[in-house]
Amino acid sequence: MIRRATTEDIDLIWHIADAAFGSSPWPKSVFEHDLASPRTAYFIGDGGFVGVTTILDEAEIVSVAVHPDYQKQGVAQNIFKHIFNMKQVTRFLLEVSAKNGGAQALYRKLGFTEYYRREKYYRNGDDAIMMEKKID
Ligand SMILES: CC(C)(COP(=O)(O)OP(=O)(O)OC[C@H]1O[C@@H](n2cnc3c(N)ncnc32)[C@H](O)[C@@H]1OP(=O)(O)O)[C@@H](O)C(=O)NCCC(=O)NCCS
Repeated sequence: MIRRATTEDIDLIWHIADAAFGSSPWPKSVFEHDLASPRTAYFIGDGGFVGVTTILDEAEIVSVAVHPDYQKQGVAQNIFKHIFNMKQVTRFLLEVSAKNGGAQALYRKLGFTEYYRREKYYRNGDDAIMMEKKID
């Protein structure tokens, strides 16, 4: 079952992010801020979450994580399919490290395509790949 997170899910989201990334790339306060924001929604399903910020007809995927115990079981894919049904959204955007082949494979399978590369975008010098998916 996929559900929209509430502010009470902060510890669950933090735990999943910390486990998925080895150490969360964002401080807990970022998730607290997002969960309180009317523009941002986090969707939770079976050990994973996807955060999405919507402005008019565009939606930006702000974070994606699945706990290692639940990876490779279709969890991320299922949450994304739920999000693609969001009303009024015609374009989904996201940013992924050029080094994160697993996440890129997920996004390509879901229909995202690269539209721009930000060179040396991350603090460690890695490039960021900007991807989009248009909805008819
Ligand atoms: C990337 C991540 C969110 C994928 O979540 P997941 O629930 O394991 O992904 P799914 O099981 O839904 O994968 C669906 C498809 O995506 C692709 N995919 C997912 N993870 C992959 C990996 N590690 N390597 C290659 N392909 C992968 C596959 O095509 C897969 O389909 P298949 O199982 O039929 O082969 C998860 O590995 C994760 O949390 N990683 C650490 C955090 C991270 O990198 N977040 C994204 C930052 S942009």
